[in-house]
Amino acid sequence: MSHKPFKAVIPAAGLGTRFLPATKAMPKEMLPVVDKPAIQYVVEEAVAAGIEDVLIITGRNKSNIANHFDSVPELEHTLRTKGDDARLAAVLEASDLADIHTLRQGEPKGLGHAVLRAQRHVRDHPFAVMLGDDLIDARDPLLTRMLDEYDRHGATVIALMEVDPEHIHLYGVAAVEPTDDGDVVKVTGLVEKPSAADAPSNLAIIGRYVLNPAIFDVLEHTGPGKGGEIQLTDALQEIAADPEQGVYGVVFRGRRYDTGDKVGYIKAILQLAIDRDDLSGELRPWLQDFAADL
Ligand code: G1P
Repeated sequence: MSHKPFKAVIPAAGLGTRFLPATKAMPKEMLPVVDKPAIQYVVEEAVAAGIEDVLIITGRNKSNIANHFDSVPELEHTLRTKGDDARLAAVLEASDLADIHTLRQGEPKGLGHAVLRAQRHVRDHPFAVMLGDDLIDARDPLLTRMLDEYDRHGATVIALMEVDPEHIHLYGVAAVEPTDDGDVVKVTGLVEKPSAADAPSNLAIIGRYVLNPAIFDVLEHTGPGKGGEIQLTDALQEIAADPEQGVYGVVFRGRRYDTGDKVGYIKAILQLAIDRDDLSGELRPWLQDFAADL
């Protein structure tokens, strides 16, 4: 590896309107998925891929997120005094995970704008952008694979997943060419949230990107796109079209949980809980009975 270590950037400044009123005074990234806030899964994924420096771009209610990754001496003291080692370990886990930095996005002008805000922190490091609505199962290490591909090609890497035509309009969509590797494609074009009729393929961007700092120069002049927002997809399209740079896609076939809407969020909780040794014994038979009565 000839470049500086990877950093991670987690945009978390969205208003979370789909989860109101739960998100009235709390960022949606702090909603619990089983017993951890969604954003902790994302930070853990970065750490599992070897990333130690994580920048969270926040919006309103930033203190909730920063506090979660900070130590809480009174709580730790109480748990230690009670000898509650399991809960103490769970509390310490979040504060010992990584070097967490936070930065306010200011005016929310889109994902591209949020990423541009990271420039001064990221400087000349390559970096992963990780969207909190997409949780990737820890048993399917997508980000590690993407960092490897970044090293192999020396180029931007995005995560792609096949989605059904009725959902394609919710995503950035890639036009691709195959490579020698069945899991990796060369991206020849990108379009943000096309209609099913205009989509260049069924390969949607899921929220993992490994970017070169050159993206910042592109984002500086990327104008508003879909929805009037500065779109990361539009900046990546420019990089894909540049023969000196290029974009590769890792086609993910593992377990992904989309917590961006209510049904996806409920499914994610059930899917993750059913696999937990401490919960499945009671939950599985109950769920089977419950489903049988539907
Ligand atoms: C964003 C991106 C989109 C991508 C999606 C993945 O959209 O703009 O290209 O496919 O994340 O979750 P959002 O879901 O934030 O509207």
